[in-house]
Amino acid sequence: MTHPLRIGIAGLGTVGASVARVLRDKAGELTRQCGRDIVVTAVSARDRGRDRGVDLSGATWFDDPVELAKSPDINVFVELVGGEEGAARASVKAALEAGHHVVTANKALLARHGLALAEIAEKKGVLLNYEAAVAGGIPVIKTLREALAGNSVTRVFGILNGTCNYILTRMEAEGISFADCLTDAQRLGYAEADPTFDIEGNDTAHKLSILTSLAFGTRIAAGDIYMEGISNITQADIRAAAELGYRIKLLGVAQLTESGIEQRVHPTMVPTASVIAQVHGVTNAVAIETDILGELLLSGPGAGGNATASAVVGDIADIAKSRPGFQHGPVFGRPVKELKPYKKAQMRSHAGGYFIRLTVHDRAGVFAGIAKRMADNDISLESIVQHSDGVAKATEKTVILVTHETTEAAVRRAVDGITKDGHLTDKPQVIRIERAG
Ligand code: HSE
Repeated sequence: MTHPLRIGIAGLGTVGASVARVLRDKAGELTRQCGRDIVVTAVSARDRGRDRGVDLSGATWFDDPVELAKSPDINVFVELVGGEEGAARASVKAALEAGHHVVTANKALLARHGLALAEIAEKKGVLLNYEAAVAGGIPVIKTLREALAGNSVTRVFGILNGTCNYILTRMEAEGISFADCLTDAQRLGYAEADPTFDIEGNDTAHKLSILTSLAFGTRIAAGDIYMEGISNITQADIRAAAELGYRIKLLGVAQLTESGIEQRVHPTMVPTASVIAQVHGVTNAVAIETDILGELLLSGPGAGGNATASAVVGDIADIAKSRPGFQHGPVFGRPVKELKPYKKAQMRSHAGGYFIRLTVHDRAGVFAGIAKRMADNDISLESIVQHSDGVAKATEKTVILVTHETTEAAVRRAVDGITKDGHLTDKPQVIRIERAG
């Protein structure tokens, strides 16, 4: 049998401890699959004394993950420290430069520095695997990088953040407050160290930027993503969406348009009958539309120790199975020099339907004024509803408009106009509607 694959794990939090436990519990099966043992020989974590449910006393402990990354005693460096800079970036770079394969779950690091790291991996002839970085346990990286070669992708979109989907699901199903749902998501180990990264859309944006590169063969452009989080979503929006036959999901969408690629992250109305609307709780889903295959939808656990460990261990097993001359291809599906520049489509030209919720003065002329602003901007309405749900005073009404396909620019002009007309008593709420099968 070939010599064992020696693993160094940096970061023994929820995910790192799960990875160590899975490698221990599945050791026999992994050895049979890979033709060699996989052994954790070194680890790095802040707290040596913590009980992680796995005996790591046989591993060498490093205080500094960068020192672990450079150690000649490992073949694979598993980075589970997190964060786009600091120890995570320095250790992954050091490991690649030392000629070690790397497995990481770090979407922020890849979104910001993925291309530079991929260049080092290419130069050194080592693997940089990151299945766990996007959509937890769903094998979407392998799908885009390997299985769909030969397809041209036109749109990739999905629920990429388990914390947000968990919050929106419970707000809708149980009427629980946003804050209580977030506390539970943190307790369950779904949320980022700083949960504003989840709820303001950054985490989804990082993941989307990686999917965009793989889907369209472009250089990663994490700074060119339109982003809105879910912190402004209220029970009134959720109820109005349900009444109109929609459900609200935080989606990341990358779409090929005539003027370039749209990358956007925002709360989105999806038809209640669509498959993606049935994706609940911490589950993630990714839809990929291509010229040859048509539409593919992958769904599965998107966050948490086991979901992430499943993907990390799969990446480790790929390395264990690889041999010189038989290993998987480039980090982002093609050599870095073959990645095309990213051409950004302007958000103002985004075309689609819109849900607009307005809180207005209950007086004559308001409806007519709103209708005029819509007509002046060539916006055709699918429905318009008025009721008293969500208003604070008897002198107010809620008006909900659903538009036919229009443009972002037209909607912004119309809503600005309505605001200037003095009809509103609260901030307008605008939520994009996404076509979903
Ligand atoms: N905080 C992330 C989520 C973890 O909720 O999806 C997985 O990347």
